[in-house]
Amino acid sequence: MNVLVVGGGGREHTIIRKIKENPDVETIYALPGNGGIAADAVCVNIGAKDIDGIVTFAGDHKIDYAIVAPDDPLALGAVDVLNAIGIPAFGPNKKAAIIESSKVFSKNLMKKYGIPTAAYEVFHKAEEAKAYVETCKIPVVIKADGLALGKGVIIAMTREEAVAAVESIMCDRVFGDSGSQIVVEEFLEGPEVSVLSFTDGNVVVPMVSSMDHKRALDGDQGLNTGGMGTIAPNPFYTAEVADRCMKEIFVPTIEAMKAEGRPFKGCLYFGLMITKDGPKVIEYNCRFGDPETQVVLPLLKSDLLTIMQAVSEGKLAETAVEFSDGAACCVVMASGGYPGSYEKGHAITIPEDLSAEVFVAGAALKDGKLVTSGGRVLGVTATADTLADAVAKAYENVEKITFEKAFYRRDIGRRALEVK
Ligand code: AMP
Ligand code: GLY
Repeated sequence: MNVLVVGGGGREHTIIRKIKENPDVETIYALPGNGGIAADAVCVNIGAKDIDGIVTFAGDHKIDYAIVAPDDPLALGAVDVLNAIGIPAFGPNKKAAIIESSKVFSKNLMKKYGIPTAAYEVFHKAEEAKAYVETCKIPVVIKADGLALGKGVIIAMTREEAVAAVESIMCDRVFGDSGSQIVVEEFLEGPEVSVLSFTDGNVVVPMVSSMDHKRALDGDQGLNTGGMGTIAPNPFYTAEVADRCMKEIFVPTIEAMKAEGRPFKGCLYFGLMITKDGPKVIEYNCRFGDPETQVVLPLLKSDLLTIMQAVSEGKLAETAVEFSDGAACCVVMASGGYPGSYEKGHAITIPEDLSAEVFVAGAALKDGKLVTSGGRVLGVTATADTLADAVAKAYENVEKITFEKAFYRRDIGRRALEVK
């Protein structure tokens, strides 16, 4: 089989490593991939948002199965056009990807179907939004409607910040057209849990739970990033919470999408907050999370490609999806300065004898050698029987990898290990 993977980050590298375990896989193409992915797949310089380029390439290269990993091509309908030329693909179609690409859609869906989430109001006009935040409860959360590279959420701790957030999103359009409408929602408190799930539109199978570490610095200080590390399983996701999530959130969401004529096939990511009133949805993503994928898939015992094909064919109910009982920790190594400006082009040294996996995100090949090319450079994932051992092992390996101006959080997993 020839498999095409759209995307070029740590998530895609993890998916590719897993797909390679299937003996039927001959060639994997990554569009565009990256310098590290090039060791595991044929990288082709076609951008993830270049839908015409992707489809033309797929049609010309006898692709048997495609995996569309990032949000942008899913929202642009990459799966629809691949299917239209007869290529089965993993990921929701454009109609279903809206669950991530419009926060107004997802909030209205949850309200209509009674799925627990933060109370909210939608605004199309800045003046009305400003008048609302002049009187609403503070802190308050302001979200641009559309995709904004994961940055369209502002938590306003004061009224002044809330007014400024409305102005920057709706008037100054700091997130572009994503800010043509906004959601203003209640501030929730509690530990966060990420649950990725497989769903074929009828059946939903949650994967092992995980915890992201979004802030740049130790102790959850500093700016928000794409994610500085993850652990799995998430100790806040107890069996009791899991049971409630299945009944109150996962199944109702799949049913709601079906009832709306938008059946969701692919990986549906539930961003949850475990509040004192029970689990609530913070956000849906229509794809695998990054760096969550870097801890979740290494714990998957079943064959990933088989599961993905079952999802596309609507046969998930008959397919085994098993995870190991162990734990995983992923520490992201970033370029100094990230998420602000950072230098590129520094040589990366990765020893051969690591006891962890390295998933490359922001690196390129220069004269055959790996050099940094992005903010988040790579993720180091270790698995072990216990979370404490997985964390210790991940850090042992991180210390053996070097590049100039490398930085990483030293406390990935600490909060989880404190849970009794
Ligand atoms: P999102 O981009 O929707 O994942 O939001 C980014 C982060 O903002 C989340 O991971 C939460 O930490 C935080 N957040 C989003 N919505 C809320 C809310 N209603 N209350 C508290 N924190 C929130
Ligand atoms: N790590 C969060 C996300 O992928 O959206």
